Amino acid sequence: MCGIVAYIGKKEAYPILMKGLHRLEYRGYDSAGVALINSDLVVYKCKGKVSDLEKFTVNKNKTGTIGIGHTRWATHGEPNDVNAHPHYSGSKNLVLIHNGIIENYAPLKEEMIKRGHVFESDTDTEVLVHLIEDIQQRENVDLPEAVRIALNNVIGAYAIVVLSKNDPDLLIAAKKSSPLVLGVGEEEFFVASDATPIVEYTKNVVYLEDEEIAVVNRKGKLQIKTIRNQEITPYIHELQMQLEAIEKGGFDHFMLKEIYEQPRSIRDSMRGRVHVDKGVVELGGIREYMQKFVSANRIIIIGCGTSWHAGMVGEYLFEDLARIPVEVEYASEFRYRNPVIYESDVVIAISQSGETADTLAAIELAKSKGATIIGVCNVVGSSIARTTHAGSYTHAGPEIGVASTKAFTAQVTVLTLMALAIGHKRGMISETHYHELLSELDSIPAKVERVLKLNDQIKYLASIFKDARNFLYLGRSYTFPVALEGALKLKEISYIHAEGYPAAEMKHGPIALIDEEMPVVVIATKGASYEKVVSNIQEVKARKGKVIAVVTEGDTIVRKIADHVIEVPETDEKLATLISVVPLQLLSYYIAVMRGCNVDQPRNLAKSVTVE
Ligand code: M6R
Repeated sequence: MCGIVAYIGKKEAYPILMKGLHRLEYRGYDSAGVALINSDLVVYKCKGKVSDLEKFTVNKNKTGTIGIGHTRWATHGEPNDVNAHPHYSGSKNLVLIHNGIIENYAPLKEEMIKRGHVFESDTDTEVLVHLIEDIQQRENVDLPEAVRIALNNVIGAYAIVVLSKNDPDLLIAAKKSSPLVLGVGEEEFFVASDATPIVEYTKNVVYLEDEEIAVVNRKGKLQIKTIRNQEITPYIHELQMQLEAIEKGGFDHFMLKEIYEQPRSIRDSMRGRVHVDKGVVELGGIREYMQKFVSANRIIIIGCGTSWHAGMVGEYLFEDLARIPVEVEYASEFRYRNPVIYESDVVIAISQSGETADTLAAIELAKSKGATIIGVCNVVGSSIARTTHAGSYTHAGPEIGVASTKAFTAQVTVLTLMALAIGHKRGMISETHYHELLSELDSIPAKVERVLKLNDQIKYLASIFKDARNFLYLGRSYTFPVALEGALKLKEISYIHAEGYPAAEMKHGPIALIDEEMPVVVIATKGASYEKVVSNIQEVKARKGKVIAVVTEGDTIVRKIADHVIEVPETDEKLATLISVVPLQLLSYYIAVMRGCNVDQPRNLAKSVTVE
């Protein structure tokens, strides 16, 4: 994880770096730091958030037109001032920021200690900056060459930027398995972990590939080569991102803004892909792979966290609508348990960030066995989007709150489109049902809009349950993944322990937890197992649990037994996820706010999990 940002040009670097760090803070917020070259090479860094760094730098010399900045999610070494980046080399002539893990840092460190290097921090990163300087001095090479040689000696993942007091007109950036974007302006360059710190200055970006090193200077010169010394011609992409999309737009938190964006983001996931009148679903990104899908004997869906929950919904959809067997796997388990993968398998990799290390590794494994890999990513140009054979972007727009909300509904929307298109091509859905589902899908954004009008009622419920110590979430069939997602949302932002269960599984264990203190959120919308879920609610009530039920508008049965009901618009059961998850997102949000938690940046978490 960690966010990195750098600037070289004619403007003052500090404000650019700080603004960039605020935007990248979702990637980690254990410590923050900047380095600037003015009359000297100065480093300011401290434990805590970017706002703590701002306080720390008050009254300090922050001038300079070249600089680097870092926001950390700690891996090696506890979050403190010393372990914060940037890290100095031994002579203090070089500084470096890093996102990733240098796996062989221990033997390298040992070797250098023997040669007299003294280290200040517990980080793997400091080893790399010492190594670069060590090579520069021992082999008498210039800085870019020293960086190149050093990177040939490290094992692991890195996105780095190096700054040297002796080369104040040069920035060197490199990456492997951690993302890095280069912004190309008029005689100025920006480097960052994603495009958000860059977008307001230039739309021209270069996505660095693994093992590429970019050397940029003040005169606007950009040179890219690989760590094996091959020259690369930079390919300049035009950024599609809009600045408003990465600002809070009047909401108290990004999470709330993103929950409220869902009518629009779900619509954007369908835009240009669904033609309800003509009964057409056209996913351009996977057009060439449709036949693979249609003839697949099996689909494997991989992802982590919320993306894995979306994958579960995908499983139900593909099995229901396309009659293709599906396995949903945690990417982290899949990659390490020697899975059986056939060349005929289609693997769908789901990831909001497109950078999740476990998902990337699982993709590489499946690819090496000859499977076809289809990505469902949100971040355009991300590593997963680029490494998959084909894919469909979710087009939810930047998601900044660490808790995923609009990305989930966008992922489910895209998976629904895929399952519908493939099921239709395989002749597994009746024409009538196909057309019904298409027009129902088209009505989902408006229905989500209606759910958002329940905001005040949900806020009130949050005030009743905010002090609970545990929560149980129950759902069945399509709403089981919603129960898992609701529980994950609550625990990650409010730190209340919460479990999601298939409603019928409750009696196999979790029922023992139920007493008058236990809030149980049950998704009891209309569907094939509605009556069974009603019985499960009775079982909870018989043990005095407090039931908050999400029901279909007009429901009269659950209303009589549950303590509280949240009525959501009716829809086809296959699309119910898209609607019933929204009140659970709001409930978690308000509980977390009322408990005084940092909703957008919950403790110990980061938005983009680029370490294993
Ligand atoms: O970027 P990804 O979708 O690959 O991220 C996967 C998980 O890390 C992510 O969904 C995480 O669980 C969220 N914090 C959940 O809100």
